[in-house]
Amino acid sequence: MAQINCVKLTKEYNKGENVIRPLDEVDLEVESGKFLALMGPSGSGKTTLLNLIAGIDRPTLGNLIIGGNDITGLSNSKLAQWRSEYIGYVFQLYNLVPVLTAYENVELPLLLQNLSRKERHNEVQLALELVNLSDRYKHYPRQLSGGQEQRVAIARAIVTDPKIIVADEPTGDLDKKSAMAIMQLMQRLNKELGKTMIMVTHDPKTAEFADLTLHLEKGRLVEQMVH
Ligand SMILES: Nc1ncnc2c1ncn2[C@@H]1O[C@H](COP(=O)(O)OP(=O)(O)O)[C@@H](O)[C@H]1O
Ligand SMILES: [Mg+2]
Repeated sequence: MAQINCVKLTKEYNKGENVIRPLDEVDLEVESGKFLALMGPSGSGKTTLLNLIAGIDRPTLGNLIIGGNDITGLSNSKLAQWRSEYIGYVFQLYNLVPVLTAYENVELPLLLQNLSRKERHNEVQLALELVNLSDRYKHYPRQLSGGQEQRVAIARAIVTDPKIIVADEPTGDLDKKSAMAIMQLMQRLNKELGKTMIMVTHDPKTAEFADLTLHLEKGRLVEQMVH
């Protein structure tokens, strides 16, 4: 069975008298351990699809079955709990908390779990080692480069050992060199740690790191390319 199964996944918003459908009956299956890239023009529904899969947003119609569980009907608190165990999210603009150090940013998701301070310390250290930033743990986001900030954000996404990592244009704000370093790191999370990855990107070079690229247009999947 596929790890992620989207069944006629639909998102609608009321805009005055009109209804807009950023996502229109999308059927999609992703096997565990796959690396999927999502491309498509601005406004085609990429972020909407990512946020539904991550349990950040809810579909208007359709179902989302992840790891055999239909998460569509979960209460808000159950969904939040599910998300904290299952999903790591990487954003284009990193979304680090500016008044917290790199260490404290990475520790944040662990505060939702029932761990001792020592256990949290071990997990944070491992995650910072993985992104090669152990020596910067005391730094604040403003003291880091964009590429380093994104590596802290990746450490934060991976620290709870989630099964699925979703990333919304993770290299969109980076220079070429930093972008490649981030992609190599994403590839390691996929190949060495077996994380299922879903990544939105505008850059075909970045998409080449994925096993498969799907194209969205006006809320529908229109095309796919196997790498
Ligand atoms: N909260 C919202 N309310 C109304 N419309 C929205 C909302 N979120 C997204 N949309 C609309 O949904 C469409 C798809 O948005 P999005 O998924 O962000 O596209 P993409 O990530 O592909 O650029 C856009 O037309 C956007 O304006
Ligand atoms: Mg988007």
